Amino acid sequence: MKFFIDTANLEEIHEARSLGMLDGITTNPSLISKESVSNQKEIRSHYLSICHLLKNEEDISAEVISTNYEDMVKEGEELSLVHPRIIVKIPMTQDGIKSINFLSKKGIKTNCTLVFSEGQSILAAKSGAYYVSPFIGRIDDISYNGLHLIKNIKKIYENYNFKTRILAASIRTPLHIIECSKIGIYAVTSPIQVIKNLLRNPLTDIGLDKFMKDYKNKII
Ligand code: E4P
Repeated sequence: MKFFIDTANLEEIHEARSLGMLDGITTNPSLISKESVSNQKEIRSHYLSICHLLKNEEDISAEVISTNYEDMVKEGEELSLVHPRIIVKIPMTQDGIKSINFLSKKGIKTNCTLVFSEGQSILAAKSGAYYVSPFIGRIDDISYNGLHLIKNIKKIYENYNFKTRILAASIRTPLHIIECSKIGIYAVTSPIQVIKNLLRNPLTDIGLDKFMKDYKNKII
């Protein structure tokens, strides 16, 4: 199971790397806007800095901010030239799937984002997206079941042997990660804190405390 970190922050990426929990990065325009960048040139240079932190098979999804086909394709081609580890992230719109289709045929890897239904996931796969990003947490936010969607997408992709990889996004809790692992999802993307929350268990803390006390009481 791959752990992607949903951030554009270099410190968080370093932290994930130091924990040994970094398999890739996803970003989006909201995350980019939190960093000290104020124009396209700075944003691309920021992506490049992130790429330099990545190794082996790791990649970073960089989202287009254009909304029409011609501009999305142009922006996608430009982003792909910034660094070979960049995956062009494209929203699930009509122009989006046309762009994914075009870019995929040119050998440019894409991540189809803002996916909220089984139907959208089929279109993402048929367009040739390398990743599909269903947003689990945002579905839960409106009282539907994000994990149920992920399970269905996995089933559909298996039925047709679609090659698109499922990158479960909008992961908000450790339980999301655990349930995705049971379903057999390729990757999850979450803030680093959600991964750190997997660590937490009071019995571990109590147990460690007792081991240390027992040891110190007897051994000098
Ligand atoms: C995924 O690619 C998105 O960037 C992200 O996971 C959205 O998460 P959020 O719903 O917590 O903003």
